[in-house]
Amino acid sequence: MHRDVVPALDTRPLSYAFGVEIRGLDLRQPLASATATAVRQLWNAHGIILLRGQDITPQQLIDFSRHFGTLDLHETLAPFRHPQHPELFVLSTIPVDGKPSVSENVGRHWHSDLSYTLRPPLGSIFHAQILPEVGGDTMFCSTQAAYAALSPTLQQMIEGREAVHDYMGVENMKKRDPALVAQLRAANPPIAQPLVRAHNETGAKCLYLSEQMTKRIVGMTERESIPILRMLFEHCVDPLFTYRHQWQKNDIIMWDNRSTMHLALADFAPGAHRYCMRTTILGEPSGTLFQG
Ligand code: SIN
Repeated sequence: MHRDVVPALDTRPLSYAFGVEIRGLDLRQPLASATATAVRQLWNAHGIILLRGQDITPQQLIDFSRHFGTLDLHETLAPFRHPQHPELFVLSTIPVDGKPSVSENVGRHWHSDLSYTLRPPLGSIFHAQILPEVGGDTMFCSTQAAYAALSPTLQQMIEGREAVHDYMGVENMKKRDPALVAQLRAANPPIAQPLVRAHNETGAKCLYLSEQMTKRIVGMTERESIPILRMLFEHCVDPLFTYRHQWQKNDIIMWDNRSTMHLALADFAPGAHRYCMRTTILGEPSGTLFQG
């Protein structure tokens, strides 16, 4: 069978633990399938990919993202969708009709996107369009590097355990409009997920938890669970395993939700405008409804 030769792409590392920039791609042009394969291989190997200078339309972001899988239509997060493109999740601080944007505080905690769903995404592809004069940075950590650095004894202790991911644990929920919170609560019940997940393409084991949404290990009380989860979480965000991205207009970052977490920092002046959008690529089914 004929297979296209996978091209070698021009890359440079972003940090010690993970991440690469790919240079020389122009997403305004159709992407050859062999090039998409090369990008996917780099994405699996490095966890996050940066592409700079991509002056693309929302439709071009969607078209590029479709090379990597089926796109989430964000039905459980409908208030955050782009009005014309349900494939796009909008992250904006720009008021709408004089009211604060519903997404102005989204992502202000370490997490892997939609870990509280039964089909968490394999990755997300984020396009920075309007940025504050300074700040609006996003931090990333490698949960794969963090898992690998644990002692074998601790790895064995947590292997096979599940932890509960509850979207309602996000602290910013308290600042949101009660009607919006009620809508989000109804659509997003707590889900038990494996605390250690093998990446379904590379087989690498990765920690799977989040800063505010994971407070309980299944079979343990919260009092027992919280110190263990806090220690694992603090280990994940050890500076050794992190990368902080200072966005430039038209940057794209592709992050792997199986092997990384991220945090959107509020490190900019109140009222400053930041407008970005991302696609969310569906992954494999994972987890069960938690009724504990
Ligand atoms: C997110 O998708 O979690 C938000 C990331 C960001 O706004 O930097």
